[in-house]
Amino acid sequence: MLGRVNHIAIAVPDLAAATAIYRDTLGARVSQAQALPEHGVTVVFVELPNTKVELLEPLGENSPIAAFLAKSPLGGMHHICYEVDDIIAARDRLKAGGARVLGDGEPRIGAHGKPVLFLHPKDFNGTLVELEQV
Ligand code: CO
Repeated sequence: MLGRVNHIAIAVPDLAAATAIYRDTLGARVSQAQALPEHGVTVVFVELPNTKVELLEPLGENSPIAAFLAKSPLGGMHHICYEVDDIIAARDRLKAGGARVLGDGEPRIGAHGKPVLFLHPKDFNGTLVELEQV
């Protein structure tokens, strides 16, 4: 069911500082910052040969990463995103196995313009899992 790792998302309190760490300390290629108001984040993409890391900074009042950063003020890994071919088939299989899908269970359009779902961290070893149909 799972394909490639599409991205690993890291919530950060200071996007400029986090970008400098990846660009200058780690020597990675990084994008310009992009504000995604509909997702409540500003994002920088760290482009790696086999996947990407997304640095997420809260944007606006109801950012979905605000609570995470309140608990982990230094930042930390927020979620991992796996690619799937058929997100409805993946969802139905996971739900049949007892996994909890966040929200109303219907895919929504994610930050890359493709359908995504999030799975409850309590069902996946404490890790928030995103599925993206590619
Ligand atoms: Co994501």
